[in-house]
Amino acid sequence: MQILSVVGARPQFVKLAPIASALRGKADHVIAHTGQHYDELMSDVFFQDLGIPAPDYNLAVGSGPHGQQTGTMLAGLERVFDQVRPDWVLVYGDTNSTLAAAIAAAKMHIPVAHLEAGLRSFNRRMPEEHNRVLTDHAADLLLAPTEVAMKHLTNEGLAGRSVLVGDVMTDVLYLTRDAIAAKQQSLPLGLSLRGYYVSTIHRPDNTDDANRLTCIVEQLAALDKPVLLLAHPRLRAMASQHEINLSQGSIKPIDPLAYPELISAVQHSAGVVTDSGGLQKEAFLLRVPCTTVRPETEWVETVELGWNVLVSEDLTQLGPAVTRRPPDPTAATPYGSGEAAAAVVHALLT
Ligand code: UD1
Repeated sequence: MQILSVVGARPQFVKLAPIASALRGKADHVIAHTGQHYDELMSDVFFQDLGIPAPDYNLAVGSGPHGQQTGTMLAGLERVFDQVRPDWVLVYGDTNSTLAAAIAAAKMHIPVAHLEAGLRSFNRRMPEEHNRVLTDHAADLLLAPTEVAMKHLTNEGLAGRSVLVGDVMTDVLYLTRDAIAAKQQSLPLGLSLRGYYVSTIHRPDNTDDANRLTCIVEQLAALDKPVLLLAHPRLRAMASQHEINLSQGSIKPIDPLAYPELISAVQHSAGVVTDSGGLQKEAFLLRVPCTTVRPETEWVETVELGWNVLVSEDLTQLGPAVTRRPPDPTAATPYGSGEAAAAVVHALLT
């Protein structure tokens, strides 16, 4: 059996790692990279650190407006699929690369499996929300990470094509956490254990409006501990365009971290402030309190269990939320036990 994985953006490389490993020796696995993320720190280091085989195809699509970016991928992937003719196209998450691959495969009558199916924010302003809904409805096999995701798929009439497999990000996080523990890495920039926060801000809703980004940066700058701000290229570009200084107050802006360094930085921090989807869940899995700068989250379990607080409309609540009392311990495992990739491979091969 031949499986063709399509990836393009940073969170997809993380999800690809456990799948590539679980498929080894079980199926012929071809990897196509759309090139949506192309900086070394946003792409190459993930392949190296997570032991992912180099992509067989790289479309080098790069940045652009959504329609142009998605359309260029669509045309490029059609050529790749025509050449490979896989048994399955496997798509990951909710980026423009996910949607382009799902449409290209569906139109060529190649079965599509969607990993991380069924997540919903119900916020139609997010490009990721369109990408998820459209991909789920185009796909033939929906690989859901959580019970909540299964419920959403059932509500949309998609239960017959859905399988609960767990979350592959748990697989890769647990492996990385154990590898870090064995290596005893030191903390970046001389920071002390639980003496700093980790932050990432990159969503257009937070970066593109000058007033909103100014407020977020001011709130981070006023926090009671240093803030390791892992600056995504979009944040750097928009801060420079709006003439906002990222190096103010408590903030220490640095380049995005490689995955093992990110996990180590979060694990030893006092808390996370983010608008990333993945990081909210990584914080929870490492039992680090998270504050999410968004009006809603797809990972509702993190909020229900008290480990994640959403702040969006009133940004003055950001400081109090970040410095809140730590939540009660929990042994809940809404994101599985770290064996999701094996369940994905089983679903694809049977
Ligand atoms: C994309 C995904 C988002 C995911 C995020 C993770 C979509 C719609 N969004 O958002 O779901 O959370 O990736 O990072 O697919 N840029 C660089 N170098 C790079 C990549 C991007 O400089 O390697 C710049 C681009 O020029 C662009 C900006 O960053 O201005 C945004 O990149 P883009 O791929 O459009 O979306 P992300 O915001 O990264």
